Amino acid sequence: MKLSRRGFVAAAGAGIGTAGAMGRVPAQAGPLHVGNPRVQCLEHPLGVEDAHPRFSWRLAAEGRGVRQHSYRIRVAASAARLREGGADLWDSGVVVSRRSFDVAYRGMPLASRQRCFWSVEVTDNRGRKSASDPAWWEMGLLAARDWNASWLVVEDAAGKTFRSAHAGGAKGYPAQPAMLMRRKFSLDRAIVSARLYATALGAYEARLNGRRIGDRKIAPEITDFRKHVLYQVYDVTDLVTVGDNLLGATVGEGWYGSPYTWAAVPYMFGPPPCRFMAQLEMRYADGSSRTICTDSQWRTAPSAILFSQIYDGETYDARKEQKGWDAAGFDDSNWAPVEIADAPSAALAAQISPPIREIMTLTPVSVSTTGPGVQVFDFGQNFAGWARLKVKGPAGTKVTLRFAEILKPNGEVDQSNLRSAKATDTYILRGDPEGEVFEPHFTYHGFRYVELSGFPGTAAAGALTGIVVHSDLPVTGRFLVGNPVIQKFWENAMWSERSNFVAIPTDCPQRDERMGWLGDAQVFWDAASFNMDTDAFTNRFMREVRDGQTGEGAFPEVTPQYAPGRSLFGAPGWADAGIILPWTVFRHYGDTAIIDGNWDAMGRWIAFLLKANPDLIWRHKRGTDYGDWLAVDAKEPNDETTPKALIGTAFWAHTTDLMARMALATERTKEHAYYADLSTRIRAAFRKEFVKPDGQIGNGSQTSFVLPLAFGLLPEDRRTVAAMHLAASIRSRGTKLSTGFLGTPYILDALASSGLEELAVELLLQTGYPSWGYMVMKGATTMWEHWNSDVDKTSMNSYNHYAFGAVVAFMYRRLAGIDMGAPGVEDISIRPICDPRLKFASGDYDSIYGRISTEWRRDGEALELTVTIPANADATIRIPAGRHQAVRESGRILANRDGMRAGPRAADHMVVFAGSGTYRFTVD
Ligand code: BGC
Repeated sequence: MKLSRRGFVAAAGAGIGTAGAMGRVPAQAGPLHVGNPRVQCLEHPLGVEDAHPRFSWRLAAEGRGVRQHSYRIRVAASAARLREGGADLWDSGVVVSRRSFDVAYRGMPLASRQRCFWSVEVTDNRGRKSASDPAWWEMGLLAARDWNASWLVVEDAAGKTFRSAHAGGAKGYPAQPAMLMRRKFSLDRAIVSARLYATALGAYEARLNGRRIGDRKIAPEITDFRKHVLYQVYDVTDLVTVGDNLLGATVGEGWYGSPYTWAAVPYMFGPPPCRFMAQLEMRYADGSSRTICTDSQWRTAPSAILFSQIYDGETYDARKEQKGWDAAGFDDSNWAPVEIADAPSAALAAQISPPIREIMTLTPVSVSTTGPGVQVFDFGQNFAGWARLKVKGPAGTKVTLRFAEILKPNGEVDQSNLRSAKATDTYILRGDPEGEVFEPHFTYHGFRYVELSGFPGTAAAGALTGIVVHSDLPVTGRFLVGNPVIQKFWENAMWSERSNFVAIPTDCPQRDERMGWLGDAQVFWDAASFNMDTDAFTNRFMREVRDGQTGEGAFPEVTPQYAPGRSLFGAPGWADAGIILPWTVFRHYGDTAIIDGNWDAMGRWIAFLLKANPDLIWRHKRGTDYGDWLAVDAKEPNDETTPKALIGTAFWAHTTDLMARMALATERTKEHAYYADLSTRIRAAFRKEFVKPDGQIGNGSQTSFVLPLAFGLLPEDRRTVAAMHLAASIRSRGTKLSTGFLGTPYILDALASSGLEELAVELLLQTGYPSWGYMVMKGATTMWEHWNSDVDKTSMNSYNHYAFGAVVAFMYRRLAGIDMGAPGVEDISIRPICDPRLKFASGDYDSIYGRISTEWRRDGEALELTVTIPANADATIRIPAGRHQAVRESGRILANRDGMRAGPRAADHMVVFAGSGTYRFTVD
């Protein structure tokens, strides 16, 4: 990769990497449009805490070779001032630059709660101007003194005992029902704006005047609650009325109170019981304000949620509902006063990332009866979320829903792979003649099947609706290919991403785990970032990674982490996520803030390894050392199928190289030199230790070759030999892989980048065991944890684990042919492998510039390839064509015109440099 520095995209008129080549402006000219104004990767965020929020926008324009010439950002304290062209907070002035993302605010200091209005005006290389619609962001509560609210608690004797003796969980503490809390207040005149700042140690749903506030599910999301707690900000202006108002909340155990990890101990991060805190700030037209906080005036009573925990499910007794409790007119004289709890020592931080939401609904594809009064609903798709129940019947009827990924041979649901997670929701009817609807509040399940029992009569298919729930990241990728098995595999990986992006990246959504395992995340992050916009989500999660770093500098293997008796830090390929996640986000989004924000932590990790391993082979401090986890030949998941020091050293060379690249991208000249040198030395040490004179590497396992090939650890002549050995191993197994979590993600890239594209595609096309296609042929609708989850009898067997789906990134990069380079540094690379066995492939990727699209069709030697590059971007397109073949664009022989420049011609492809626009290539 060629590297450049932050701010490189400055020379107007110069294409990135194609400098000056497209100086001539093509004739077509439509209007220029500037859209997608975002701050901190979000539209209109509330609760921004960064003193220098980052802007991005996108250009859209017809015609080719459209580039930004300059931009001007204006930020004003009011919408009116911005409309008049004022910029009392910041005027960037006209900046001659192509940068349209990762531009930091450099204006007046911003205060808590401040709303900032902004727009950007762009001039393109044809002199056309366009301004974005006005947008805004709002600052959060920046200092502890901004909070006047108290933490409310419903005291219980047991809680007191556990509180005084809390150390890593409250084993034996009984699960608590969720509590209702409410406070009435009156306003004598209308307000102009109102915000609710709220959080809990536990989970809450807030209500105002009978209406639910916002549409988030299970807030606050999991964090290391010992270190920080996320608060949420809601605009509730429309819910407040003149006269009597009622602010209320249902408060349950959530992630804070539920048993977490396989240890199954509740309240791992702090003592019981749950606590709730909220601050409602209302502003009048004259600028004065009124604030209602959680304080001693709140009253409380138990809710109808008798039990609700993340792993086990929810029990709801509708007979215990208190109708109208969330409206001002309700009589709460028999409710109890709340108590004020001590404030936890954890810091409060606004959640600036997509919340968990209901994303879509599914209807059952079949319903079967497995016993008297027992029915099994099949949603036809494994996913995370819950089922909405519609039921009519006598009061007191108890309906039970048990969730499962698989069925027993007799058709009953099989929960054996959920380990201790009960995954059961129970609803007790209030007996409403109109019928009743139930959805759980503070739990979620990973499932395809639901067993329904206790239902009055026989349930029709409409009795249950599948509610798909996850962090609401924008979907950015689509992939189509002319092979149904690969197509289904791509869909399955997308479903595993949906199912496992719930607050944090989890390993699985169903069993008693659902934890932020970093090996799984690291291998999948590139694929994840094609499928969805992961920028804000990663920034939020990296705080957990930093919180989990040890004083010595070891990154965690899983985070947030609280596993009594176990200390999970530093494993190769797991802890390395601390560097690989920020790098991947930089590569996709050009986000340099994620580099800056994690720079010290990343440096401490490399220094930690160096201190422990001065001879540059990662022999010591390998933490739990999972190795090539779940490799095909492993008897135990962590068997040494590939030498573990080899795996570690390969990752260390790789992450050190990434540090060098990130240093350069952020103008850290000295650090760049340091890490470049260190990585060169680790590479040399790797070769000396693991590469034999005959070109064999390590113990000859496939992963022994894959990692050095993928991470560029070998000189050219050694690469070829290593690739031959890898190919021979694959062939000797009947074109089958033998890799685990760490080798699999890179195997197709290792082959393709060594000129073995055909073998890469052949491996991808396999449908026998072990292969990706095997899962599809066996009816998988999500990615499996094991290559043989269908026959695996261990207790660790999930049907929804995205790690082996990591090669989806290869499908975008090499089958659709879309690679991001690093925005602002490199061209987009378009380089599809147009293998006739696939017939066609196409991809869309909504990049930081806008949508990149490709589509190719192959018929014998003939090829059609259509490529669309968004405005302000440049691409290097490699068209597969032999020297004897004619390459045309829109029917005309390729030449330096219409936004293109023909580059060098190699034996098997032709290079074209192109600016924005759509290009239709044909190869005869
Ligand atoms: C998880 C894995 C994880 C592993 C680490 C398992 O229980 O499900 O995906 O990476 O532990 O050993």
